[in-house]
Amino acid sequence: MRFFAQMISLWISVCMAFHSTAGEVTVEEPIDSNTIQRFNQNPEQNDTKDNEVKALKKVFLSNRSITCNDGSQAGFYLRKSQSSKKWIIFLEGGWYCYDSHTCRNRWLKQRHFMTSSKWPETRDVGGILSPNPKENPFWHNANHVFVPYCTSDSWSGTKPPSPSQLFSFMGSFVVRQVVRDLVPLGLENSTDLLLAGSSAGGTGVMINLDYVKELLHEELKLTHINVRGVSDSGWFLDRTPYMPTNKPAVEAIRKGMELWRGKVPRRCREEYLNEPWRCYFGYRLYPSLTTELFVFQWLFDEAQMDVDNVGAPVTKQQWDYIHKMGDGLRQSFENVSAVFAPSCISHAVLTKKDWQKVEIDDTSIAEALHCWEQKTSRRRLRRLKRLKSAGRFADSPGGMRKKKRRNGGMGLRNTPPEVNDVGKKKRRRARKNRRGRKDKDRAHAHSQSQNENRATHHPNKRTSAQDRPARSVQQSPRRPGKRHCSHRRLERCSWPQCNHSCPRLHNPFTGEEMDFIELLKSFGLDMNSVADALGIDMQTLNNMDHSELLNLLTQQSNY
Ligand SMILES: *[C@@H]1O[C@H](CO)[C@@H](O)[C@H](O)[C@H]1NC(C)=O
Ligand SMILES: *[C@@H]1O[C@H](CO)[C@@H](O)[C@H](O)[C@H]1NC(C)=O
Ligand SMILES: *[C@@H]1O[C@H](CO)[C@@H](O)[C@H](O)[C@H]1NC(C)=O
Ligand SMILES: *[C@@H]1O[C@H](CO)[C@@H](O)[C@H](O)[C@H]1NC(C)=O
Ligand SMILES: *[C@@H]1O[C@H](CO)[C@@H](O)[C@H](O)[C@H]1NC(C)=O
Repeated sequence: MRFFAQMISLWISVCMAFHSTAGEVTVEEPIDSNTIQRFNQNPEQNDTKDNEVKALKKVFLSNRSITCNDGSQAGFYLRKSQSSKKWIIFLEGGWYCYDSHTCRNRWLKQRHFMTSSKWPETRDVGGILSPNPKENPFWHNANHVFVPYCTSDSWSGTKPPSPSQLFSFMGSFVVRQVVRDLVPLGLENSTDLLLAGSSAGGTGVMINLDYVKELLHEELKLTHINVRGVSDSGWFLDRTPYMPTNKPAVEAIRKGMELWRGKVPRRCREEYLNEPWRCYFGYRLYPSLTTELFVFQWLFDEAQMDVDNVGAPVTKQQWDYIHKMGDGLRQSFENVSAVFAPSCISHAVLTKKDWQKVEIDDTSIAEALHCWEQKTSRRRLRRLKRLKSAGRFADSPGGMRKKKRRNGGMGLRNTPPEVNDVGKKKRRRARKNRRGRKDKDRAHAHSQSQNENRATHHPNKRTSAQDRPARSVQQSPRRPGKRHCSHRRLERCSWPQCNHSCPRLHNPFTGEEMDFIELLKSFGLDMNSVADALGIDMQTLNNMDHSELLNLLTQQSNY
């Protein structure tokens, strides 16, 4: 038992070591130590002066009664771009607290997640919010909004301050007020809004996405703004932990939702009337969303491993559990139309400086996201054009949208809001709804190979590297010469760190990079037990090279 505890604490320190080197906005680190990033001062880039101009600037919300946990004003950081009509609103992550004990603890140890009192005037955030074209080739020029997480409620709370309670939880209000306040700052004339977020912020995206679209399109009548969501590392599974844990995800969310007076999307809530907290879990919430969503999730997400309390794999049971975790996650993406899921042990990606290094089949997450965004805009444009030329383009798309919503059921995400209601379309939609998301996915993934579709739609069929075709098969026949744009990218190899593009893990003691096997050895792992678990002898294990060993470990998932 003591050994286990040691392993887990080592594991956590490894994860933290990785985090701090990755320069991410992490859960564990105090804000000012790791989010103020310096850009590469490349001489050829010559942007030294721009750096000062381009920092994100603090703006407090106009509604002073919408606050952080401690009653301090909530707000956001903004960098406007004169030349772009694209906006990104990014919700920061950082776990949550769910009862008086955990919230008191958070106040003592992670106060920066509960108050705005020490917010600096400016911030620099990397990855998708970087103004540096090298670090952020597709969105460097967009209007950037970083919303610090100071409500500890997965961005879902609607609980104002009260005399009887120490903290308020107003995350849901914060998101909407940010949107409202951005409208006069330029959002009203934008064409695209990407609501993005990592970790608890990724969950926050899913929870708030439809409400944000509703606010812009219906309440504010800004129907020309195309709203989309990107959820990074916020897609969790409500499964049974490996060992009893002091961070039980399910129990915590259940309690938390009550404490925060958590607000989840209406239609999901209707689906889970008795257990509305289930709507914090992506795969349960997703089917009821109407706004387009791109999901990024590491197959071996550290936060998931943490709540599952599985620790570093030592025993056969742990290896198996971790394998199943990857499989379970892969299966939970069965009906998701846009997903990127590499086989790595890591957490969050979007605001990491080196986010472009993360690849599946030689496509980086940035490229995949860009491709998805382009494609969904093109589809929208085509429809607008079609409707215009057919003379059915109404002046008040808002009205049509309302009509549609009343009729609408599930799986409408790919139905353009501008499409008017005519009998034929209605029927088609009704049929679509009945058949569920699968149709939609098929349409969405029309350019993907049959093979991939089949594999991803049948959970019982193994999706191993072996029975998959080579990557060339995935090339779209429709657009020769253009790089293929697949919206579903699930890493085929099933073992953590099985492919080259995973973020490197770092030895917590020396800071040196290490691969997974070295990592295991550095834990003082008894390689005998590994050999046992794998059913081979020690000599074979020692003589095996890393790729061979990884290969073997990978195949363990296929029995
Ligand atoms: C940097 O920019 C300044 C002013 O725009 C220009 O004069 C200078 O030559 C540039 N330096 C490099 C290395 O490109
Ligand atoms: C400020 O926000 C609170 C909470 O959402 C709301 O009740 C109130 O009406 C808002 N005030 C203004 C002036 O918008
Ligand atoms: C949006 O565009 C209109 C028309 O060009 C302009 O009058 C308005 O000031 C713009 N709004 C913002 C916030 O820039
Ligand atoms: C995907 O959709 C099918 C048909 O609606 C459903 O039976 C299945 O449970 C869904 N899978 C997931 C993971 O939600
Ligand atoms: C590893 O990555 C390469 C390049 O991205 C890819 O071609 C290969 O299929 C991947 N291997 C597995 C087992 O997923």
